[in-house]
Amino acid sequence: MRKPMIAGNWKMNKTPAETKALIEDLKKLGNKNGADVVVCPMTVSLAAAAEALKGSEIHLGAQNVHFADHGAYTGECNAASLKELGVEYVIIGHSERRQYFGETDETVNQRVLAALAAGLKPIVCVGEVLNERQQGITNEIVCKQTKVALLNVGEQIENVIVAYEPVWAIGTGLTATPDQANETIAAIRGAIRDVFGDAADRVRILYGGSMNAKNAHDLMAQPEIDGGLIGGASLSAEKFDGVINF
Ligand code: PGA
Repeated sequence: MRKPMIAGNWKMNKTPAETKALIEDLKKLGNKNGADVVVCPMTVSLAAAAEALKGSEIHLGAQNVHFADHGAYTGECNAASLKELGVEYVIIGHSERRQYFGETDETVNQRVLAALAAGLKPIVCVGEVLNERQQGITNEIVCKQTKVALLNVGEQIENVIVAYEPVWAIGTGLTATPDQANETIAAIRGAIRDVFGDAADRVRILYGGSMNAKNAHDLMAQPEIDGGLIGGASLSAEKFDGVINF
């Protein structure tokens, strides 16, 4: 019932020229599961990506968006500009943004609301750190992050995607087991249901954290896992192919 989504988070990789080259390679790939395939290049590479993606079914996403319409926010990027470039999705609240750039659940919520108001679809990231998993408080942490991120979203919940990314699994080669990921995502869906009722069944929740060609099939076989947010394994067409065609 929920269409699978495989989204590549390129992080701070791929110049505009490299972006164009990778997209040309991605356009040649099959998509046997009928997934929504999304690529999220750096902000400065979005225009090149939009141009290269013309006529393709691959969707374009950004990695962040500011909550203000415009103003004195040096280095930030507003939703209207992303929209104008043809961006459809935007990653919000990635753990690297929380860890290195001071994002909080509250700023994540503000960015989510700004994205939705501009007609962008947020991919909202939540996830626990290792210590929190070891203390047995994973579900509490991710459910709170989810509820705060989605405050005042209302009927726009249908345009939100959530990505569960255990921080200890990102870029480390450690992956949550399919069971662990499924269980935590079920808890996140429960938190969405608490607030938004049955719409929770229509919200796609992705897994992210060292997902690759080897583990994608088992993760995607889980009933609660609707897709993946892929970092390292999205940086070459060959590796990404293995995830898209899980
Ligand atoms: P990874 O990154 O696949 O390299 O672990 C995932 C992410 O941070 O979105």
